[in-house]
Amino acid sequence: MSLYNLKSNFHILVTGGAGFIGSNLCNELIQNGNQVTCLDNFATGKRKNLASIVNHQNFTLIEGDIRNLSDCQKACDGVDYILHQAALGSVPRSINDPITSNDVNVSGFLNMLVAARDAKVKRFIYAASSSTYGDSTNMPKVEDIIGKPLSPYAITKYVNELYADVFSKTYGMETIGLRYFNVFGRKQDPNGAYAAVIPKFVMQLMKHESPVIN
Ligand SMILES: NC(=O)c1ccc[n+]([C@@H]2O[C@H](COP(=O)([O-])OP(=O)(O)OC[C@H]3O[C@@H](n4cnc5c(N)ncnc54)[C@H](O)[C@@H]3O)[C@@H](O)[C@H]2O)c1
Repeated sequence: MSLYNLKSNFHILVTGGAGFIGSNLCNELIQNGNQVTCLDNFATGKRKNLASIVNHQNFTLIEGDIRNLSDCQKACDGVDYILHQAALGSVPRSINDPITSNDVNVSGFLNMLVAARDAKVKRFIYAASSSTYGDSTNMPKVEDIIGKPLSPYAITKYVNELYADVFSKTYGMETIGLRYFNVFGRKQDPNGAYAAVIPKFVMQLMKHESPVIN
């Protein structure tokens, strides 16, 4: 199933829908005639990302936290598909505060899986990460050749895959993780210590500065 197949008349929950990737998904899904619920606590997401759809009749915003099971259950009610994007991104953030990254990315993920299972959603599609390849030097990257994680963030994303796999086998849920590499595009924030590298490079180049390569 691709976004193209999610053409109309489905009820889709996008967690992290106020974020960079989530808000692009919400916009696209609304444009294609779906009913969309967004669950977000605005930890890093922005209201302006949802400005064009917030008053749309097919859009519902639930301000809540995936660390609260009841928020997840409320958001999953009557939903066909889940696109789970909510997480605390950034490797440096997870190095500075591994406990919060773990709470959101692992405990929050588990809450979402349980709520999705109980709501009997058709499929749980989640944002996995290229960080799961860890220290593997294998090229080109293939799904089942991974190394050891290199950061707390990478551990959380790997644990997501393990949980999703176990939920598929144990409860018969359909789960799919998409290992995003460096995604870039509209609505991405180039500012701040935890910004992604491509928008940071682009901003520096636009200011005729040399990009800082670590
Ligand atoms: N952008 C990339 O290049 C990239 C690469 C690999 C994986 N990912 C993953 O893709 C997903 C989306 O990333 P993004 O770049 O759009 O990040 P983002 O920070 O723009 O979006 C994340 C969203 O999740 C929300 N959120 C955070 N904690 C929450 C909580 N406890 N409860 C509810 N909502 C919460 C934030 O407010 C934000 O709106 C994340 O899971 C991220 O780990 C992104």
